[in-house]
Amino acid sequence: MTPLTIHLNDEAATLDLGARLAASLKPGLYIALRGDLGTGKTTLVRGLLRALGHHGAVKSPSYSLVEPYALPGFEFNHFDLYRFRDDSEWHDSGFGDYFGPDSVCAVEWPEKASALLPDADIDIALTVEADGRGARIVANTAAGQRCITQWGTGGDAR
Ligand SMILES: Nc1ncnc2c1ncn2[C@@H]1O[C@H](COP(=O)(O)OP(=O)(O)OP(=O)(O)O)[C@@H](O)[C@H]1O
Ligand SMILES: [Mg+2]
Repeated sequence: MTPLTIHLNDEAATLDLGARLAASLKPGLYIALRGDLGTGKTTLVRGLLRALGHHGAVKSPSYSLVEPYALPGFEFNHFDLYRFRDDSEWHDSGFGDYFGPDSVCAVEWPEKASALLPDADIDIALTVEADGRGARIVANTAAGQRCITQWGTGGDAR
């Protein structure tokens, strides 16, 4: 697919992108969230979880590396692999078990464990721009494509 490029003016726009993604999420999807420190990956997950009815805090799981959320329709697993070390940690922690047809996973810093992770259904890369952030979104699977197509043309895609 042609990458979808969206400009996010402020934090509210990043939260809104998460909310739009939430509206078309289906169990089984895995979303890779790329981008340097502080580009808005956790903010996007926060917007997504709020839109799905989660009222508590959403903090990046910097030390536990994964935070599961039991949502009404499916389990949502939020990974932050910035401090991920090696394959043994992956296997010892049973991280592979978090992925499957009944859960949704969003992974910050997927490149830290790229050999262990499945192919992402949706790849979102965030960058710092002079006036906010840029989001570059690519679907790699039919399921990811369906999710993105449902977003419609809302927002300021350019
Ligand atoms: N579109 C935006 N424009 C300006 N600031 C934003 C935007 N989206 C998020 N931010 C701000 O960027 C900061 C960092 O956000 P966040 O913690 O989500 O980044 P992150 O990519 O998860 O970082 P890390 O890699 O450290 O986990 C926050 O202060 C947030 O409010
Ligand atoms: Mg983060």
